[in-house]
Amino acid sequence: MSGAEDTEEGTRTWVTRAGGTTTTTTTGKGKGKAKEKLERVDGLLSRLGYCARGDARGFLKRRVVTRRPPGEEAEATRVTTTSEKAKASEIAVDGEALDHPDGLLVVMHKPGGLVCSHDEREGANVYELLPERWRARKPTVESVGRLDKDTTGLLLFTDDGRLNHALTSPKKDVGKWYRVKTDREIPAEAVEVFASGTLTLEGESKACRPAVCEILSPLEARLELKEGKFHQVKRMFAFFGCTVVELHRESFGSLTLASVAPNAGDIATLPLDFDF
Ligand code: URA
Repeated sequence: MSGAEDTEEGTRTWVTRAGGTTTTTTTGKGKGKAKEKLERVDGLLSRLGYCARGDARGFLKRRVVTRRPPGEEAEATRVTTTSEKAKASEIAVDGEALDHPDGLLVVMHKPGGLVCSHDEREGANVYELLPERWRARKPTVESVGRLDKDTTGLLLFTDDGRLNHALTSPKKDVGKWYRVKTDREIPAEAVEVFASGTLTLEGESKACRPAVCEILSPLEARLELKEGKFHQVKRMFAFFGCTVVELHRESFGSLTLASVAPNAGDIATLPLDFDF
């Protein structure tokens, strides 16, 4: 799966790929960890998706769960009671440290054809690509904003509600670059109109924030948005009579998809304090 270790420069993360496992390093701001609290082992295991709380007793029998209290000399002892209290960093399952006990921040290279929804009635969804254990975590792992079913590219997930809110807030001045293909020639004036901050989309009361647009060829452009209105890119191009036929998100602030998850379906973990 994946893991993390703190280094002087920040946090080193293990990356999980669709086609196997590889490693890379990504650094965070290197902020200190919040003080760990004591938790009941059944609560801890179910919170991190290892088992249902009611199944914790069986889990402790089936798997080797150990606790090593702090201190160089301390010996690891087997945990046999669900009510035992421990800090997450003291616990190991089958000899492996617990998986991201402080929270998850994940980047996925979203393939086309998947919806950003937990509702199975809406069809195949992006959550199906996440490891089972992450899908069982509480609080649940949620996408940071949404991409349309046909949109590909960079999609973040986290189980940290505050972080999710902070990353989607328009107050956070993070630019997201999209690559766009259209069915008809993109007029040169689109660049000026998108940059002006005066374009108000149908049904909206507020104009779009100024957006940088680079026309790459008659049917292709890159666009940087610092907000995320519903179907925003498609509606902005529709204003000029252009239908978006391909849409790909290349980056989220300083994070480029090519650097961490270059192929469709790739998944990587990031430090919670990643500096976007
Ligand atoms: N804008 C869109 O129109 N669709 C997306 O998926 C993302 C941004």
